[in-house]
Amino acid sequence: MNQDDLKKQAAEAALDYVEGGVIGVGTGSTVNHFIDALAGIKNRIEGAVSSSEVSTERLKRHGIPVFDLNAVGELALYVDGADEANGRLELIKGGGGALTREKIVAAASRKFVCIADESKLVEVLGRFPLPVEVIPMARSYVARELVRLGGTPVWREGFVTDNGNLILDVQNLEITDPQGLEQQVNNIAGVVTVGIFALRPADVLILGSARGPRAIA
Ligand code: A5P
Repeated sequence: MNQDDLKKQAAEAALDYVEGGVIGVGTGSTVNHFIDALAGIKNRIEGAVSSSEVSTERLKRHGIPVFDLNAVGELALYVDGADEANGRLELIKGGGGALTREKIVAAASRKFVCIADESKLVEVLGRFPLPVEVIPMARSYVARELVRLGGTPVWREGFVTDNGNLILDVQNLEITDPQGLEQQVNNIAGVVTVGIFALRPADVLILGSARGPRAIA
């Protein structure tokens, strides 16, 4: 089985958590498999709230109605991928640049089911460069502050988020205190969102593996 097969396996296992209503849907290649699988049971749900333009387009192509979060209120379930996860279900997200909307939908959901292939499970977060979404005029200032925190920020040049902002990918971090670093980076003026999901971690992590899907809760 290749990595994409394992992503698909985790995505299909997440269907067990779908109980109807409006589903929060994340972004990325693993979530693309989830959207495709969700299409097979679309008569059992009302629709979705999406975390990105890309996912919205894919949902609509499958004939799944997409709602504005403001019109829906609290969601029972959010399904999304991750770039890294630790055993406490704290995550790094934002490799696809959709971290701000992902964090909003995760915050507005009662249950967050994270889907990934097993290579995403790590002891310590930080080998994957940490995405930070910043207001354009604050790019250099935020970069200097991230250096003070021990990181090496790299501007994702040519990339603009769905919200019209920029991304700094912070290399060389060993994130031993995810909640603390999430708060510290959140407090830098000009930061819109940091891609650490530790203050609101996942509730369930489904990992695709050669032995079948494994859920950690
Ligand atoms: C999107 O911004 C990210 O948070 C994705 O959830 C994350 O990058 C996982 O992507 P893949 O499923 O493509 O690995």
